[in-house]
Amino acid sequence: MDIFKYKKDIRERIESLKTWATIGFVPTMGALHKGHLSLIDCSIKQNDITVVSIFVNPAQFNDENDFKNYPKTPDADLKILGDIKCDILFIPSENEMYDKPDNRKFYFGELDKVMEGKYRPGHFNGVAKIVTRLFDLINPHRAYFGLKDFQQFVIIKKLTEDLKIPVKIIACPIVRENDGLAMSSRNSLLSAEERKSAALIYHALYQAKQNSRKYAISDIKEQVINTLDENPHIRIEYFEIVNADNLEPVQSWDEPSEKIGCIAAKVGNVRLIDNINFNL
Ligand code: PAJ
Repeated sequence: MDIFKYKKDIRERIESLKTWATIGFVPTMGALHKGHLSLIDCSIKQNDITVVSIFVNPAQFNDENDFKNYPKTPDADLKILGDIKCDILFIPSENEMYDKPDNRKFYFGELDKVMEGKYRPGHFNGVAKIVTRLFDLINPHRAYFGLKDFQQFVIIKKLTEDLKIPVKIIACPIVRENDGLAMSSRNSLLSAEERKSAALIYHALYQAKQNSRKYAISDIKEQVINTLDENPHIRIEYFEIVNADNLEPVQSWDEPSEKIGCIAAKVGNVRLIDNINFNL
């Protein structure tokens, strides 16, 4: 695996590869786990060359402590990427990535006014800043995003369509631990007790799916919130059942849209998100 730290070096390499290879790109913030690996695997299968980036993007953190405490495991990440035969790793410093101030404001309509956008103001604008910079550098044919961050996926799709960036955005399914907890770099910050409680988030989503259509949407929402509220470690920020296309709340199971139940909760001090597709 070739490792690049500087934009000019990776740009040069990509230019020479572009003459013959399809390029798949997986942007990450490191502390890699099997969720990330599933994206990388998919890219390796579908492209000649796979590029992974690791960059903990300060612009997308609205809480300084969250940024400071974000897990960093560079040695383990390098080993994992080497073992799975990733072709290129781009791992820039903050100065390299943001060498000039970036005051761009992106417009996502209503997509960033709800859920993560509401609870993490500016988060998606920061995601858009880094993803557009990375796309500009790497120019991938395909880029891979996990459905664990469902709202991020919808927003990145809109971003690339609006800006006419010639990349195919590929969605990858959520990878879970054996007890159902969605894999996340942040899971390593949970205490043993919190870790046990965290699995209840998926259990509640799963139950909601089992009960869907038997109860009204408003009742299902109440059931999820009430069940999780009983656990002393868990504080729910939101649970919404939304239309997968426009993220608007769904009022009835009879609406023809694909429906996703999205949740954010703090388990101790660790903020986790997850979701379930009611149509699959
Ligand atoms: P990060 O949280 O490191 O996630 C990188 C990619 O891995 C995202 O597309 C995310 O949805 C996917 N992913 C994480 N956990 C997953 C799981 N359990 N199953 C499937 N996919 C999973 O998302 C970011 O970084 C950043 O916002 C980024 C896009 C890199 C921009 O900074």
